[in-house]
Amino acid sequence: MVSAPIILANAEIRDEFIADGMRQLRRGASAGDVAELVACAVEDDPEEHTVGYGGWPNILGEVELDASFMDGATLRAGAVAALKGFRHPISVARQVMLRLPHVLLVGEGAARFATEIGAERRDMLSPEAQAAWRQRIAEVAQHEEKDAITLTMRALVERRGSDTMNVIVRDAAGNMCSAVSTSGIAWKYPGRVGDSPIIGAGNYCDNRYGAAACMGLGEVAIRIGAAAQAVMLMRLGWSLEAAGREVACQLYALLGESNATDPMRRADWVRILIMDAAGNVGAFATRPGLSYKVQTADDPRPITREAVCPV
Ligand code: GLY
Repeated sequence: MVSAPIILANAEIRDEFIADGMRQLRRGASAGDVAELVACAVEDDPEEHTVGYGGWPNILGEVELDASFMDGATLRAGAVAALKGFRHPISVARQVMLRLPHVLLVGEGAARFATEIGAERRDMLSPEAQAAWRQRIAEVAQHEEKDAITLTMRALVERRGSDTMNVIVRDAAGNMCSAVSTSGIAWKYPGRVGDSPIIGAGNYCDNRYGAAACMGLGEVAIRIGAAAQAVMLMRLGWSLEAAGREVACQLYALLGESNATDPMRRADWVRILIMDAAGNVGAFATRPGLSYKVQTADDPRPITREAVCPV
């Protein structure tokens, strides 16, 4: 089968990373290799404070990284959560898929696996992220409190982060692959895991029906299995547009409910990127003004489009 290669990504990813991926696709690279290539470039970008090196740390000042990888041809998937001290969580996630009969490794187990496969170590806390964390702790800590629950609830009142790296790639053979990587919500409670490494919540990919990936407040994407739900609706015959609108409306309803009690109420949103099996793409968000990028083999560079906000 000959298909037109296409890359769908979140708008925060630099054009050159996506364009580089498309160059590789034009040369015949696989969707999996290109998804990993783009994700690794974002993980290395010190100015991207929600992914990889330079990501905002948790409330203890530790960078805990989540990533997942899914192959649409086989439905195989790999993921890591709360991984510390490795340069490319997405590559570790892909190796979980390739080398183990498991899908998700967390914390120390994920780090052990990364060590055993020879993954590159790196101190992922950049000086800038460390300075921002110190400042936030100084703002919220009173009377020498050491209680991480109290500090987290205070620090999260202004939410930073959870923008996430989403990339969905279709190659010339028609195979699709999706990759998601994030440092999660800034100042999160240690061990907090969002939707990004949860297959079905933040990432899902099936060549036969399509793929979806989420950004924004992972807690709500987990609660409705957002990515798998979008793909399953397309499996049931819904159009990409109808599936995206439905999932965004459900996410919006849950955000409204959580707004009543969550300390993160002021900044909450979710955006879902969707590609269908024919290579049509779209993005749907719970608030206006959010964008995404798409590049086909005919485009010299990625094109930025605004996500649909159906609420
Ligand atoms: N969507 C990323 C997170 O909530 O961690």
